[in-house]
Amino acid sequence: MKNTNNKNLNASAKSNSSNSIVAPASDAASELKDFFIDSLKDIYWAENALVSALPKIIQNATSPLLASAIKEHLEVTKNQVVRLETIFKLLGEKAEGKKCEAMAGLLKEGDSILLETVPGYVRDAGIIAASQKIEHYEIATYGTLSAFAKTLGENDAAKLLTQTLAEEKEADMVLSDVAYSAINLSAVDNIAYDTNG
Ligand SMILES: [Fe+2]
Repeated sequence: MKNTNNKNLNASAKSNSSNSIVAPASDAASELKDFFIDSLKDIYWAENALVSALPKIIQNATSPLLASAIKEHLEVTKNQVVRLETIFKLLGEKAEGKKCEAMAGLLKEGDSILLETVPGYVRDAGIIAASQKIEHYEIATYGTLSAFAKTLGENDAAKLLTQTLAEEKEADMVLSDVAYSAINLSAVDNIAYDTNG
Protein backbone atom coordinates (compact mmCIF):
# COMPACT_ATOMS: atom_id res chain seq x y z
CA MET A 1 0.00 0.00 0.00
CA LYS A 2 2.78 2.37 1.03
CA ASN A 3 4.72 1.52 -2.11
CA THR A 4 1.74 2.19 -4.33
CA ASN A 5 1.27 5.64 -2.74
CA ASN A 6 4.91 6.46 -3.29
CA LYS A 7 4.63 5.36 -6.87
CA ASN A 8 1.64 7.63 -7.35
CA LEU A 9 3.49 10.53 -5.74
CA ASN A 10 6.50 9.98 -7.98
CA ALA A 11 4.29 9.78 -11.02
CA SER A 12 2.53 13.04 -10.19
CA ALA A 13 5.82 14.84 -9.39
CA LYS A 14 7.16 13.73 -12.76
CA SER A 15 4.12 14.89 -14.67
CA ASN A 16 4.12 18.24 -12.82
CA SER A 17 7.75 18.91 -13.58
CA SER A 18 7.33 18.09 -17.25
CA ASN A 19 4.26 20.38 -17.39
CA SER A 20 6.30 23.26 -15.96
CA ILE A 21 8.81 23.40 -18.78
CA VAL A 22 8.10 26.56 -20.71
CA ALA A 23 8.13 26.32 -24.48
CA PRO A 24 10.33 29.15 -25.84
CA ALA A 25 8.75 31.90 -27.91
CA SER A 26 9.50 31.88 -31.63
CA ASP A 27 12.05 34.70 -31.22
CA ALA A 28 13.67 33.26 -28.06
CA ALA A 29 17.45 33.67 -27.69
CA SER A 30 19.48 30.55 -28.39
CA GLU A 31 22.90 32.17 -27.99
CA LEU A 32 24.22 34.16 -25.01
CA LYS A 33 24.97 37.05 -27.37
CA ASP A 34 21.28 37.28 -28.35
CA PHE A 35 20.20 37.22 -24.72
CA PHE A 36 22.83 39.89 -23.95
CA ILE A 37 21.41 42.16 -26.68
CA ASP A 38 17.83 41.52 -25.49
CA SER A 39 18.89 42.46 -21.96
CA LEU A 40 20.54 45.65 -23.25
CA LYS A 41 17.24 46.58 -24.97
CA ASP A 42 15.45 45.98 -21.68
CA ILE A 43 17.74 48.28 -19.65
CA TYR A 44 17.71 50.86 -22.48
CA TRP A 45 13.92 51.05 -22.09
CA ALA A 46 14.33 51.17 -18.29
CA GLU A 47 16.86 54.05 -18.33
CA ASN A 48 14.68 56.08 -20.71
CA ALA A 49 11.65 55.46 -18.48
CA LEU A 50 13.70 56.68 -15.53
CA VAL A 51 14.74 59.86 -17.37
CA SER A 52 11.01 60.58 -17.89
CA ALA A 53 10.03 59.73 -14.29
CA LEU A 54 12.77 61.46 -12.27
CA PRO A 55 11.63 65.12 -12.76
CA LYS A 56 8.34 64.34 -10.99
CA ILE A 57 10.20 62.60 -8.16
CA ILE A 58 12.52 65.63 -7.78
CA GLN A 59 9.48 67.94 -7.55
CA ASN A 60 8.05 65.82 -4.75
CA ALA A 61 11.20 65.78 -2.61
CA THR A 62 11.21 68.25 0.30
CA SER A 63 14.85 67.94 1.38
CA PRO A 64 17.08 70.03 -0.90
CA LEU A 65 19.82 67.47 -0.32
CA LEU A 66 17.56 64.69 -1.63
CA ALA A 67 16.30 66.80 -4.54
CA SER A 68 19.84 67.68 -5.61
CA ALA A 69 21.03 64.06 -5.28
CA ILE A 70 18.22 62.90 -7.59
CA LYS A 71 18.77 65.84 -9.93
CA GLU A 72 22.40 64.83 -10.26
CA HIS A 73 21.40 61.22 -10.87
CA LEU A 74 19.03 62.38 -13.63
CA GLU A 75 22.03 63.86 -15.48
CA VAL A 76 24.04 60.67 -14.83
CA THR A 77 21.11 58.61 -16.16
CA LYS A 78 20.91 60.68 -19.37
CA ASN A 79 24.59 59.93 -19.89
CA GLN A 80 23.94 56.23 -19.25
CA VAL A 81 21.37 56.27 -22.06
CA VAL A 82 24.03 57.69 -24.41
CA ARG A 83 26.52 55.08 -23.16
CA LEU A 84 24.05 52.30 -24.00
CA GLU A 85 23.69 53.78 -27.50
CA THR A 86 27.49 53.58 -27.84
CA ILE A 87 27.35 49.93 -26.76
CA PHE A 88 24.68 49.12 -29.37
CA LYS A 89 26.91 50.79 -31.97
CA LEU A 90 29.96 48.78 -30.82
CA LEU A 91 27.90 45.59 -31.23
CA GLY A 92 26.59 46.63 -34.64
CA GLU A 93 23.03 46.70 -33.28
CA LYS A 94 20.29 49.29 -33.56
CA ALA A 95 19.60 51.08 -30.25
CA GLU A 96 16.05 50.13 -29.37
CA GLY A 97 14.13 49.59 -26.16
CA LYS A 98 12.04 46.65 -25.12
CA LYS A 99 9.59 47.21 -22.25
CA CYS A 100 11.23 46.33 -18.95
CA GLU A 101 8.41 44.99 -16.77
CA ALA A 102 10.58 45.23 -13.65
CA MET A 103 11.31 48.96 -14.07
CA ALA A 104 7.68 49.61 -15.05
CA GLY A 105 6.64 47.92 -11.78
CA LEU A 106 9.21 49.78 -9.68
CA LEU A 107 8.09 53.13 -11.12
CA LYS A 108 4.45 52.22 -10.52
CA GLU A 109 5.33 51.46 -6.91
CA GLY A 110 7.11 54.83 -6.71
CA ASP A 111 3.91 56.54 -7.88
CA SER A 112 1.83 54.81 -5.24
CA ILE A 113 4.35 55.78 -2.54
CA LEU A 114 3.78 59.44 -3.49
CA LEU A 115 0.03 58.95 -3.13
CA GLU A 116 0.44 57.21 0.21
CA THR A 117 2.72 59.78 1.88
CA VAL A 118 2.34 63.34 3.05
CA PRO A 119 5.02 65.73 1.69
CA GLY A 120 7.92 66.20 4.14
CA TYR A 121 10.24 63.68 5.72
CA VAL A 122 7.81 60.77 5.37
CA ARG A 123 7.42 61.27 1.61
CA ASP A 124 11.18 61.82 1.34
CA ALA A 125 11.80 58.53 3.16
CA GLY A 126 9.38 56.89 0.70
CA ILE A 127 11.19 58.44 -2.28
CA ILE A 128 14.50 57.11 -0.98
CA ALA A 129 13.01 53.64 -0.44
CA ALA A 130 11.62 53.58 -3.99
CA SER A 131 14.83 54.99 -5.49
CA GLN A 132 17.02 52.46 -3.73
CA LYS A 133 14.89 49.60 -5.04
CA ILE A 134 15.47 51.02 -8.52
CA GLU A 135 19.22 51.36 -7.90
CA HIS A 136 19.47 47.80 -6.62
CA TYR A 137 17.65 46.54 -9.70
CA GLU A 138 20.10 48.47 -11.88
CA ILE A 139 23.12 47.25 -9.91
CA ALA A 140 21.97 43.64 -10.45
CA THR A 141 21.33 44.30 -14.14
CA TYR A 142 24.63 46.03 -14.91
CA GLY A 143 26.56 43.45 -12.87
CA THR A 144 25.07 40.72 -15.06
CA LEU A 145 25.50 42.68 -18.30
CA SER A 146 29.17 43.43 -17.66
CA ALA A 147 29.77 39.75 -16.84
CA PHE A 148 28.01 38.75 -20.09
CA ALA A 149 30.11 41.25 -22.06
CA LYS A 150 33.34 39.88 -20.54
CA THR A 151 32.27 36.28 -21.24
CA LEU A 152 31.51 37.20 -24.85
CA GLY A 153 34.87 38.97 -25.26
CA GLU A 154 33.13 42.32 -25.80
CA ASN A 155 35.73 44.16 -23.75
CA ASP A 156 34.88 47.71 -24.82
CA ALA A 157 31.22 47.14 -23.99
CA ALA A 158 32.25 45.55 -20.68
CA LYS A 159 34.28 48.63 -19.76
CA LEU A 160 31.31 50.94 -20.40
CA LEU A 161 28.90 48.68 -18.51
CA THR A 162 31.29 48.55 -15.53
CA GLN A 163 31.39 52.37 -15.53
CA THR A 164 27.60 52.50 -15.30
CA LEU A 165 27.62 49.82 -12.60
CA ALA A 166 29.96 52.00 -10.51
CA GLU A 167 27.66 55.01 -10.97
CA GLU A 168 24.61 53.02 -9.81
CA LYS A 169 26.50 51.87 -6.70
CA GLU A 170 27.54 55.44 -6.02
CA ALA A 171 23.92 56.66 -6.37
CA ASP A 172 22.79 53.98 -3.93
CA MET A 173 25.40 55.10 -1.37
CA VAL A 174 24.45 58.75 -1.76
CA LEU A 175 20.79 57.87 -1.11
CA SER A 176 21.80 55.97 2.04
CA ASP A 177 23.82 58.98 3.22
CA VAL A 178 20.87 61.32 2.65
CA ALA A 179 18.60 58.94 4.54
CA TYR A 180 20.93 58.67 7.53
CA SER A 181 21.92 62.32 7.61
CA ALA A 182 18.47 63.86 7.74
CA ILE A 183 15.39 61.97 6.77
CA ASN A 184 15.18 58.73 8.73
CA LEU A 185 16.47 60.40 11.89
CA SER A 186 13.64 62.91 11.68
CA ALA A 187 11.15 60.14 11.04
CA VAL A 188 12.26 58.11 14.05
CA ASP A 189 12.76 60.92 16.58
CA ASN A 190 10.05 63.16 15.21
CA ILE A 191 12.51 66.02 15.36
CA ALA A 192 12.20 69.13 13.21
CA TYR A 193 12.85 68.27 9.59
CA ASP A 194 15.89 69.97 8.18
CA THR A 195 14.68 71.30 4.85
CA ASN A 196 18.07 72.87 4.24
CA GLY A 197 19.41 69.41 3.64
FE1 LIG B 1 20.88 54.00 -14.42
